[in-house]
Amino acid sequence: MQRTRWYKDAVFYQIWPRSFCDGNGDGIGDLWGVLGKLDYIASLGVTGIWFSPLYPSPQADFGYDIADYYDINPEYGTLEVFRQVLDGAHERGLKVIMDLVVNHSSDECAWFAESRSSRDNRYADWYIWRDGKTPGSPEEGGTPPNNWDSLFEGKAWEYEPARDQWYLHIFAKKQPDLNMDNPEVRAEVERIMRFWLDMGVDGFREDVITYISKVEGLPDDNPLKPAARGMQFYDHGPHVHEYLRQFRRDVLDDYDCMTVGEAPMISAEKALEYAEEGPDQELDMLFTFEHMGADCLFTDWIPRPFDLRSYKQALGSWQTGLGGRAWNALYIENHDHPRIISRYGSESYRVESGKSLACSYLFLRGTPFVYQGQEIGMTNTHLASVDESADVSTFNQHRLVREMGLSEKAALWLVNRATRDHARTPVQWSSAPGAGFVGGDGTAEPWYPINPNYPVINVAAAEADPHSLLAFYRAAIALRRRLPVVREGGYRELKRASGQLYAYVREGAGQRLLVVCSLSPKTAYFSAPADLDLAAGELCLCGYEDAPLEGNAFFLRPYECRVYLWEDAGEEQVC
Ligand code: GLC
Ligand code: CA
Repeated sequence: MQRTRWYKDAVFYQIWPRSFCDGNGDGIGDLWGVLGKLDYIASLGVTGIWFSPLYPSPQADFGYDIADYYDINPEYGTLEVFRQVLDGAHERGLKVIMDLVVNHSSDECAWFAESRSSRDNRYADWYIWRDGKTPGSPEEGGTPPNNWDSLFEGKAWEYEPARDQWYLHIFAKKQPDLNMDNPEVRAEVERIMRFWLDMGVDGFREDVITYISKVEGLPDDNPLKPAARGMQFYDHGPHVHEYLRQFRRDVLDDYDCMTVGEAPMISAEKALEYAEEGPDQELDMLFTFEHMGADCLFTDWIPRPFDLRSYKQALGSWQTGLGGRAWNALYIENHDHPRIISRYGSESYRVESGKSLACSYLFLRGTPFVYQGQEIGMTNTHLASVDESADVSTFNQHRLVREMGLSEKAALWLVNRATRDHARTPVQWSSAPGAGFVGGDGTAEPWYPINPNYPVINVAAAEADPHSLLAFYRAAIALRRRLPVVREGGYRELKRASGQLYAYVREGAGQRLLVVCSLSPKTAYFSAPADLDLAAGELCLCGYEDAPLEGNAFFLRPYECRVYLWEDAGEEQVC
């Protein structure tokens, strides 16, 4: 099968199904809801959909704990409805990629139910089971096999009396890690891939895929580390490349599909080991995190004000760091991060900062992803107490900072800054009761409270306003798709030292594109270099209604952004 690398021209829209649109009136988003919104999605100009997990799941981590890899969660629909969504998407020119979560399954997956039941059953070796360091149950004084922490819920090990052994869970207790070293598990992963690809899906977003291979012997980590002990022993583990190459060779190469791997804590240099184009390529692109930490030190728990220079540095290092040898995945929101306007922009300049943030990433080299609600500028919600959270990782962070001695008030402040709940409130479709999210007669209680700002921030209101953020996203996506320079061109940053502006030039394919974004509430000033004659360029986008020039320069109003284009310019080059 010849891979066409169609994904290089793609723009994806991410659906987190529980909160996208409820079709059947029970207050939970579902595939019937998606069916009714396919025209809306296509109207954005995007060319694909990434579905966060749709599979049957006890929802301990909202689908990232899969109980059955070959079916659809009954709350969301059936395989039949999924096929309708797939066909409807394809008819509209939209590709569909599924979330593939194979570092771990749910503890309610049939494989785990059997695996935990004894030491000698068909699935006995499908998970990572070890004897305790000291024998017996925790009540009898037994201790876990090593000192690793889980990322979501206390220690990384849980005791199972039926086996008198412990299982590893890097995430929540209900997310036992699969033993990828077992060839049967890898064969099962391949079956799962083929099942969905044969149905017609166009690829996968592979969840924490850099975690699938654990260091032999599972040694103790430095006990003095404050949290996340063990990560170095499973991130980029010894067999990860071998396994990913196997999946590519055995399955993925038979389809004209694409893969994007989630890769926390990775450098551009390391990314090439996974995504460098060539015979040994494993993944088509990676979701990386550096640019998402421009408002925190080390971890989400030590916040600082948004730092534009770190944001630019992170984005720029990936634009140039891959050296044209691998492809980027571009995003500023997803289901794991607070809303970007509340984080990096300004709720007081909601639409303006939303436009400028959109420009800051949509014209970079790579495949952009837009998260549901991002295109209308949804903002963070507010939790009056941690009990209002629905997120297993939020409870963990709250507990950890309380244990570190923080007051409840301070802990709640941190929760409100970092919780994933912000991204998971229902999409605001209209000012009707239930925000147009709740289907049927609209009277059901939504599964999670709708952000009270829905009468103002909603799709219907944005549709009626030609200057809305939604209109801007449509224009920006259309522009991106029309210009070969965005795919082909090199990347050059201007005004690197500026603490207000992010400015970059894309050059190539006979075009030159200048993107200037203010990420500041104060007036800023941009003077163009001599080789960019602003008056001769075409103003393609502007976050405000007019775009006055002062010679070969301009003042930017709060969070203003502009994009200029010169045709028949720029060298053929790839960055
Ligand atoms: C990824 C997902 C996140 C999930 C975690 C464990 O980071 O994006 O939502 O909680 O993996 O599966
Ligand atoms: Ca529903």
